[in-house]
Amino acid sequence: MTFEFKQCTEKDLDRIMEIQEEAFSVIENEEILRRNSREMLLSCLNYPHYTLGAYDGDKLVAFEVLYAGEFTDENIGYDIGIEGEALLSVANVKLVIVSPEYRGNGLQRQLTEKVEEEAKRRGYKILCATVSPYNEFSVRNFEKAGYEMETEKVKYGGLLRRVYSKMI
Ligand SMILES: CC(C)(COP(=O)(O)OP(=O)(O)OC[C@H]1O[C@@H](n2cnc3c(N)ncnc32)[C@H](O)[C@@H]1OP(=O)(O)O)[C@@H](O)C(=O)NCCC(=O)NCCS
Repeated sequence: MTFEFKQCTEKDLDRIMEIQEEAFSVIENEEILRRNSREMLLSCLNYPHYTLGAYDGDKLVAFEVLYAGEFTDENIGYDIGIEGEALLSVANVKLVIVSPEYRGNGLQRQLTEKVEEEAKRRGYKILCATVSPYNEFSVRNFEKAGYEMETEKVKYGGLLRRVYSKMI
């Protein structure tokens, strides 16, 4: 299958919320995914954040969020010992979801590659992500994409997460 990749806009917000719910409807373990509010997903569409979509024709089927955590506790740089102004060179791959019927097309890999290119264009030097150790598909895709596990810790009010990073 071929997909078109382009930046999502506010027009995609309803569909992004729907994809998130589709993911929860088939999830085996709710601990592997954080449910994001509409407000949060709206903010992810706008600068300094960035959401890239994969489209099958006009239909959004997957998306990945590059999130500028800056000096907030969303910045995973804090978890890997980065301090001060250097935190501004860190961005998070905050969320990636592929609509269940489109899984198995390597869309996470393709979105992650393209988001990395955008992160470079924006001057980021380090990308971080947190992934549940039970999320075998995402763990495999991040490791294949060159992300290294820095540590494993409890985050987000009680969820076990591997903290990954990649110099770009
Ligand atoms: C993780 C995720 C993005 C991977 O999707 P993807 O890019 O389509 O996955 P891949 O193309 O690498 O799939 C490889 C294989 O695993 C299968 N697979 C992928 N995700 C799967 C899942 N959640 N459950 C069962 N099988 C899955 C695919 O069907 C494919 O099988 P095949 O080789 O027999 O065709 C997707 O599972 C997803 O959206 N999960 C829910 C949200 C999530 O966990 N996001 C990551 C948070 S860090």
